[in-house]
Amino acid sequence: MTQDELKRAVAQAAISKVESAIADGEIIGIGTGSTANFFIDLLADYKNDIRGTVASSEASAERLKSHGIEVLELNNAGTLGVYVDGADESNHHLELIKGGGAALTREKIAAAASKEFICIADESKLVDRLGAFPLPIEVIPMARSLVGREVVKLGGNPVYREGVVTDNGNVIIDVYDFMIDVPRKTEETLNNIPGVVTNGLFALRPADVLLLGTPDGVKEMTR
Ligand code: A5P
Repeated sequence: MTQDELKRAVAQAAISKVESAIADGEIIGIGTGSTANFFIDLLADYKNDIRGTVASSEASAERLKSHGIEVLELNNAGTLGVYVDGADESNHHLELIKGGGAALTREKIAAAASKEFICIADESKLVDRLGAFPLPIEVIPMARSLVGREVVKLGGNPVYREGVVTDNGNVIIDVYDFMIDVPRKTEETLNNIPGVVTNGLFALRPADVLLLGTPDGVKEMTR
């Protein structure tokens, strides 16, 4: 199977998981990235049944609207019944690295606002230890150098993601060579650096369910 076929399979499995939430009139949170895009496209079949969605990026909002699916502001939506999103890495505790698509802050907000977080990914994303994927940090532009110096003190190798401005008007620093043994602690430590909006570790609010696409079918992991 190709990677796209694995992504489509997990997106289809996620659709089955959210059908009852849609029927119950829950608002569905929608992630960002190529795997989330498969989910959005499959969700189009339910556009007349969905009460509304909240998107974690402008790109996902546009894709939802192009299918005729209603997109709400989170402030008007309240608690989300379920949030479905991809990941760049997941460990076996369903702690994640996200933000490869620079949408990490809105993704973290949507995850925090949801009753259930379903992560969808192909099997290449499952790792024993987080950190081979460079950890994204969203940073207020004037703090870029300061945050970089603090990351070096913590043992990471910060690289400014040139040419990228987030949906919130900020910049991204990717941290290389940063093997993460205690993700919750690292998430807190990085978030305490002045100028950091948030970092791409989802350990304080990990996924509740991981749907993993493998050549043998979709495997489901829970915490
Ligand atoms: C977006 O900022 C990311 O968190 C994505 O969810 C993550 O990069 C996964 O993307 P793919 O589904 O494209 O691999």
